[in-house]
Amino acid sequence: MMCPTTRLLIASLLAVTAGACEPGKAAGPGNFIGDARRGPDLIKQYQCGSCHEIPGIAGADGNVGPPLHRIGTRTYIAGYIQNSPDNMADWIENPQRALPGNAMPRMGIPQRDARDIAAFLYTLK
Ligand code: HEC
Repeated sequence: MMCPTTRLLIASLLAVTAGACEPGKAAGPGNFIGDARRGPDLIKQYQCGSCHEIPGIAGADGNVGPPLHRIGTRTYIAGYIQNSPDNMADWIENPQRALPGNAMPRMGIPQRDARDIAAFLYTLK
């Protein structure tokens, strides 16, 4: 018999390794929904607006990447990746892992921030 603590430890280790082996699924089930209210400040902090036009964000009028108008209802991210909250958070966290060689740089955005930004982008319909 395994004691409950051992069992719990094994279960959490399995969960961690399973997550690590699944590219494109950085956001776990418990972290599915980000906080959209943090989005605008984070978008300013990471200066997404230097490359993107983003509705509702003052000064976000960049023209390096596509405008993010109605990105919340777009079918594909970057024309390749199915648009879902998980995939969007993953894209923001590391666009080079999501679609190697595309022109959006990896900016070292932590997963939580990426999810909050994704939640905000989903309000753009
Ligand atoms: C240095 C410029 C640059 C910065 C900074 C940047 N992006 Fe991008 N982004 C791009 C480019 C270029 C693309 C187009 C990639 C492609 O389609 O291959 C893109 C694509 C995207 C897309 C997909 C758009 C679509 O129409 O499918 C989203 C969403 C996005 N960026 C969000 C962000 C967010 C959020 C930030 C800030 C955290 C950010 N970007 C910062 C250059 C940038």
